[in-house]
Amino acid sequence: MALMAGAAIGMAGFPVHRPRRLRRTPALRRLVAETRLTPPDLVLPLFVKEGLDEPAPVASMPGVVQHTIVSLRKAAVDAVAAGVGGLLLFGIPAVKDARGSAADDPGGVVQRALADLEAEVGDATVLMTDLCLDEYTESGHCGLLTTAGDVDNDATLERYAAIAIAQAAAGAHVVAPSGMMDGQVAAIRSALDGGGFPEVAILGYSAKYASAFYGPFRDAAECAPQFGDRAGYQQDSANGDEALREVAQDLAEGADAVMVKPALAYLDVVRRVADAVAVPVAAYSVSGEYAMVEAAAQRGWIDRERSILETLTGIRRAGADLVITYWATEAARLVA
Ligand code: PBG
Repeated sequence: MALMAGAAIGMAGFPVHRPRRLRRTPALRRLVAETRLTPPDLVLPLFVKEGLDEPAPVASMPGVVQHTIVSLRKAAVDAVAAGVGGLLLFGIPAVKDARGSAADDPGGVVQRALADLEAEVGDATVLMTDLCLDEYTESGHCGLLTTAGDVDNDATLERYAAIAIAQAAAGAHVVAPSGMMDGQVAAIRSALDGGGFPEVAILGYSAKYASAFYGPFRDAAECAPQFGDRAGYQQDSANGDEALREVAQDLAEGADAVMVKPALAYLDVVRRVADAVAVPVAAYSVSGEYAMVEAAAQRGWIDRERSILETLTGIRRAGADLVITYWATEAARLVA
């Protein structure tokens, strides 16, 4: 092995290797940067709410809104113009029920929005859909409930299969199951294949942790659990090896790409997954990560743009190929 460059001592007694040489100018730093943040790496989550007349700001996520079908189109066009790699759609239905019926209704809000986006920007970007029930169930849980009030894993899989078909039929290129039910990827893969959508890809929310950092999202998507929490199906933040098992399981079931979520408190998991798999790895920089930076920046406590770019670069450096972030459009412009 070569000697560590820093160990050599030059004539004047100073180290020969001077790392600062390559940090001297912005152009030098750009030339030798190990990690690139580029617009196509970024995926923008978007919320669309049925029955809205005007976009509705999300108080805990300054700059993020619940879209109308019309404002959604505009946000999608903006994102695509900025070069963003994909859009990830979340729907908020007008009516919630025990089965989450609106989730797979062909006239449901996400399905209608998809048809619109497919027409507007479909060829220019990747349309992804969050595939879950929590926005659609009265309970706010990600699945159907047993009479005892537990989330019924296998009954929920049938619902996910139906939602996958509805989203694919409406134009989704990628479905992203986020409910953390065991066997969800297999159920969805077989539904898509059997339903005539073998080309639709699955991005598994494979290592999704039960996280306090989802707090603001639950306002945005109106999906806070009405009782209990999601710790019985989402992962425990103490566990890293378990994430690798979840990822392996999703790949065995047919996932085309995998995700770690949240990002910042789990960068070690992002790195381990990236080292372990040969498929694209996404990391979701979640609502709470967004809110922390926005709130501190509003108070003048941190530099907003630098914090955004440092956050997203750190997630890429940890090994994420794709970063799902509410800053996607803005960050794409900043790095272009
Ligand atoms: C579930 C889902 C959640 C998020 C994405 N998909 C919420 C949850 O599991 O409670 C959180 C995203 C974020 O916080 O930005 N459909």
